[in-house]
Amino acid sequence: MDVIAVDDPTDAQIRQWHAVLLAVHADDPAGDPAPEPEQTVARLLGAEQGSRQRLFAAVEGGEMVAVAALRLPGEPGADRPGEIDIRVRPGHRRRGLGTRLLAEAARGLRGDGRSSVLAQVTAGTPAIPFLETHGFHCVLTLSGLQLDLADVPPERVAALVAAGPPGYELVRWRGVVPDEYAAALARAKHAMADMSAYEGAPWDADRVREMAEMVNKRGDGLYTVAAVRGTTVAGFTEIVVPADTPECAAQYDTAVVPEHRGRRIGIWVKAAMLEWLRAERPEVREIETDNAGDNVHMLAVNEELGFQRQRESREYQAAAADLPG
Ligand SMILES: CC(C)(COP(=O)(O)OP(=O)(O)OC[C@H]1O[C@@H](n2cnc3c(N)ncnc32)[C@H](O)[C@@H]1OP(=O)(O)O)[C@@H](O)C(=O)NCCC(=O)NCCS
Repeated sequence: MDVIAVDDPTDAQIRQWHAVLLAVHADDPAGDPAPEPEQTVARLLGAEQGSRQRLFAAVEGGEMVAVAALRLPGEPGADRPGEIDIRVRPGHRRRGLGTRLLAEAARGLRGDGRSSVLAQVTAGTPAIPFLETHGFHCVLTLSGLQLDLADVPPERVAALVAAGPPGYELVRWRGVVPDEYAAALARAKHAMADMSAYEGAPWDADRVREMAEMVNKRGDGLYTVAAVRGTTVAGFTEIVVPADTPECAAQYDTAVVPEHRGRRIGIWVKAAMLEWLRAERPEVREIETDNAGDNVHMLAVNEELGFQRQRESREYQAAAADLPG
């Protein structure tokens, strides 16, 4: 078995890489669609903007049997963790291939001046014991939740909408936020910052508009419902209906500003969103969302609305110094 760097993959190597991804997916589909060949081509040939990548493969008898992609966000030596993804064909596991690829990626990581690495994995899969034996620890859990709209009685949604707190009103818009609410929405987006590990530029009116324009450009529909008092956005929720799979909508941000919490504004805006979607986009059949495992309030709101827990995903982190190799 050889481990090779695939920094400039040929067409044949891309096909073999894709075959490994398909074999791993077939073994544990976990509800996700199988990767499409074009996605693999795009992933291998073009790193995301502002990021570079190193690719490695384990080859046996001329066939790729395991692959590893190391993403390196930012400039070399940037004080940001790398991101690793390793996939080993089911028939070739527990023979040290994953460990060999991790060691190779660790050299790439250290060579780029990084001090740590992250991995996104699903709870209950072999990835957990694999990472834990190699110095990784869990830094974040995310519960995947799904709401089947057919399971939510319209009368219950109507009752929740009618039970909104006094002194607030509901407003809604599709796409870019109306100018009168842009700054207030940016302030409310800041309220997300204390709920989750928050990275990136602070929210301002321009960034809020840019995010909406990006969704528009993809052809997807962004729907926002906000609870406002005067010119203040006290809370809001966003849903994106993808152009290619409109039956499965994605929950984007939901937040209630700290001084307006405890008045059931979170469930109010979400119920109003369900009512609006039903009228406006009847083809939406389910909504998917992820909640941080320690975000008990948001989990409670979602479960009260009827969201069912699906899989738990976890983010693991390791210091480069603790990795094999
Ligand atoms: C996780 C994965 C990469 C491990 O690959 P692998 O080649 O089987 O791993 P290794 O043989 O190097 O295993 C090293 C050690 O990890 C632990 N380990 C790996 N798989 C395990 C399992 N199913 N159960 C318990 N321990 C396991 C063991 O301690 C193992 O050592 P041992 O075999 O001597 O007991 C592979 O199962 C896989 O491709 N899973 C699907 C994709 C995925 O989740 N990738 C993780 C993203 S980083």
